[in-house]
Parts: sequence; structure tokens; C-alpha cells
Amino acid sequence: MAPTMPAGGVILEKSCEKARVVSQEQLAAQVFRLRLECPKISASARAGQFVMLRVREGNDPLLRRPFSFHRIHAGRGEIDILYRVTGRGTLILSRLGPGSEVSLVGPLGNGFKVPAGGPLALIAGGIGIAPLGELIVQAVSGGVPAQDVHLFYGARTASELLPESVVGEFGIPVHYSTDDGSFGYRGPVTGNFMDFTGPGGAENFRPAEIFSCGPLAMQYHVAKWALANDVSAQLSLESLMACGIGACLGCALPAAGPDRRGSGEPSGYVHVCEDGPIFPAGSIQWNQILVQQTPRPTCLFS
Ligand SMILES: Cc1cc2nc3c(=O)[nH]c(=O)nc-3n(C[C@H](O)[C@H](O)[C@H](O)COP(=O)(O)OP(=O)(O)OC[C@H]3O[C@@H](n4cnc5c(N)ncnc54)[C@H](O)[C@@H]3O)c2cc1C
Ligand code: FES
Repeated sequence: MAPTMPAGGVILEKSCEKARVVSQEQLAAQVFRLRLECPKISASARAGQFVMLRVREGNDPLLRRPFSFHRIHAGRGEIDILYRVTGRGTLILSRLGPGSEVSLVGPLGNGFKVPAGGPLALIAGGIGIAPLGELIVQAVSGGVPAQDVHLFYGARTASELLPESVVGEFGIPVHYSTDDGSFGYRGPVTGNFMDFTGPGGAENFRPAEIFSCGPLAMQYHVAKWALANDVSAQLSLESLMACGIGACLGCALPAAGPDRRGSGEPSGYVHVCEDGPIFPAGSIQWNQILVQQTPRPTCLFS
């Protein structure tokens, strides 16, 4: 289909949908769950994919914001987005009530390859739990025993964790951690995971596959562990995104292999919006990423 040029950038017309806010709930400090009615997008959405969301009409803020599918309710034509208020766009989003409208472009990205067997380790840093929700539901409904799906879930402090009543709905073992020790294991979520799999941890727990989402610094440690232990890992990576459809090249991360766009460079780039956001551990040149210091995609617009 030919690209069109609606207000705000080049998008594929068939992927753009007006969505109605069904509900909005605050679940933890700065963390909200938004249910949106968007029959077209929910019908084709897969776990691990995302939408670019315009929080309101007009040019302020100008850019759409990327959000993963937290849950996909295709039968009802709805999706859930789980998000953390970090700036202006998400603050505006958090103030929308039922009946409000937002504009979505999606589903975008490659999505997870949903595993058929376990045991699985899911590692979530903070709001990184968002894309793992649908993955858990699909893995368990696809036949992976719930007790074989271990969620390692960490945040900076207890008030930033989703309540146990919400996480408990997945019906899988959850290993909590907080950086300040206010709930669960004290320390980073990756430390909790490595202690559990290490010599003093749970006997015989060796994941067949790892799925993770969180800050790049956390993902680096997950990737390092997965490569060292020869365990397959699917990492949901984030990068600052201006377009979400491969047009601005702002979401590039250094690739471990040649650029698939054929630049001829022995080590090129991957573009998180098009090539990802899900990547195997070995596909990124981790030593070239200055973790948590990614520049904005553009200094002119936000
Ligand atoms: C593929 C993908 C999926 C995502 N899914 C979710 C999700 O399900 N839930 C969720 O809460 N967030 C998600 N994010 C991050 C989310 O897009 C940003 O938090 C959001 O765009 C911030 O918008 P803002 O206007 O509130 O903040 P801004 O005012 O634009 O920025 C505020 C702060 O947030 C940082 N920030 C902005 N964009 C990002 C980003 N993409 N990654 C990390 N930090 C960012 C800025 O550097 C700044 O420090 C996802 C990002 C990507 C790339
Ligand atoms: S966000 Fe524009 S190319 Fe990826």
C-alpha cells in the first residue's frame, strides 16, 4: 500500500486507528493501565509488538509515543497498555478518562516468538513488565505449565511494583526484588535471577529460554548471562523513537552483524522499530552502547 502523509508524519494508512479509552486505572506509583478499544489493531496484534500513540489531537506533543501491548483482548477488540509516567506525553495520557480518544499506529515491530515449552525465565525491570504480560498468558495457554514460567520482577522501591493482586493473576511463580530492599530480594533483578540459577539457588533451574524487558543496563547483564550460559534469549529493547516505522533512523543500536540495509559496513546498525523490538542476545554490540545515555532522536521536536 502506498504511504500517505497525514498530520504528524508518514504512516501506513491501514495501520492507523482511532481508539476509545475504555478505562484507566492507577496500579502503582506513576504506573497506569489503560484499556483501549481498537478492533482493527487488536485483531492482528502479537505479544511483544507495540503501537505508536498520539496522546491528543494537534501538534503538542508532536511525536507519537511507543507503547507495548501489555494484554491483547482480540475477542473484545481491546488492548491494555501498561505505562509509567516519565514525562509530558505520559502525563497527558494519565489524565484521559473513559470515552476519550487517542490515535494509534500499529501493530509495529516483530514480536516475541512464543515458546512451546519451558522452563522459562522472564526478567522484568520496572515498567519492563509491560510486554511480558501477554507473553505469559500466551505461553501458558499454549501449553507451558504455569509453574515452569518464572517471573523475576524488580523495581527501585516497593511503591513502584505492581500490587501482588495484579501480578498474582498470572498464576506463575514471581520472584520480587527492589534496589532498596523494601520488598523481596535486595538488589537488581538480574542479581535475583543469577542467585536463583546459581549454585546456591533453586536446584535444577536452568531456563530453556529467557525473555526480558527493562533498561539497557539490565538487558546488557541478561544478554551477557545468556551468551555465557548458551541459553537462548529474546530481549525486548528500547530506544528513543521518533517515527516507529523505519523513517527517521533515530532508534538505531549498534549491531553485532552487518547492516541489513546493505550499507557495506562490517558492523552496522539495527533499528529497534523495524528490526525489533525483540532481539536475540548476540545481535547487539553491547560494548558500544553507552547505557542510559541515549541521545534524543531529535532536538527540534518532542
Ligand atoms: C518499543 C517500545 C515500547 C515501549 N513500551 C512501553 C510501555 O509499554 N510502557 C511504558 O511505560 N513505556 C514504554 N516505552 C517507553 C515510552 O515510550 C516512553 O516512556 C515515553 O515515550 C515517554 O514519553 P513522555 O512524553 O512521557 O516522556 P518524554 O518527555 O518524551 O521523556 C521523559 C523521559 O523519558 C525518557 N524516554 C522517552 N522515551 C523513551 C524511551 N523510548 N525509552 C526510554 N526512555 C524514554 C526521556 O529520555 C526522558 O528522560 C516503550 C518504548 C519503546 C521504544
Ligand atoms: S523510530 Fe524512526 S526509524 Fe525507528
